[in-house]
Amino acid sequence: MDIGCGVYPKVELGLHYTGFTGELSMVDIAPSILVKAVSFLDYINAKFKVTAIANTLWELNCKPFNIITANHFLDDLVIENHCTTFGIELRNVYHNEKLLASLWDNILLQPDAAYSLMDRFAERLDSLLNNDGIIVLADYPSYYYQTKGLLKVIVFLEKLQKYLQGSLSKKRYKNITLFREKKLKYGWLEISPDNCLCMKKPCIKDRQA
Ligand SMILES: C[S@@+](CC[C@H](N)C(=O)[O-])C[C@H]1O[C@@H](n2cnc3c(N)ncnc32)[C@H](O)[C@@H]1O
Repeated sequence: MDIGCGVYPKVELGLHYTGFTGELSMVDIAPSILVKAVSFLDYINAKFKVTAIANTLWELNCKPFNIITANHFLDDLVIENHCTTFGIELRNVYHNEKLLASLWDNILLQPDAAYSLMDRFAERLDSLLNNDGIIVLADYPSYYYQTKGLLKVIVFLEKLQKYLQGSLSKKRYKNITLFREKKLKYGWLEISPDNCLCMKKPCIKDRQA
């Protein structure tokens, strides 16, 4: 399952280019985004089977998955949580740079709300994952936040990711390495353990030990 797939879903693009032919559920809270994402996959002729779920991850009611992944989702999760709490229209935030910046100012004034959100997120992931299942959450430093001078947001998101890792460790999840630490040849992006959380859920035996 890919949570918060967005319009041009990077996880699905990656799967497409590696020749994936299995099954995948794409989740996004915004139905219009999902429609565009699915038609994008049709356009690139992706060969895997897709189930599109327009819902918030908090209300998903489905069988547990073997792998849960999300690309650059933590910041959106924090933003969405803040908007829901304070009755702010999510769509307006994404269309208004100033609003987004002041929203982050407010989030950073009360960071505890975001940390407790990470605890709830860990619970939610756990309930959606099979035993022995794997979580892969990539949150490399956002190009957008870099260019807008919002470095404090990048630093905060790194702390949140580490905190989430701690929450999952308390549930006996173990860090695993799924990738080679290698700089991409043609990109500015580098995925490393610092910005990609990869953890495995224990089997029942290990959970009870
Ligand atoms: C900007 S995208 C992240 C990037 C995207 N994964 C990619 O690879 O291009 C984040 C998405 O998360 C969705 N989202 C935010 N909160 C959500 C929630 N609680 N449940 C499901 N989707 C959510 C937003 O609608 C948005 O489309």
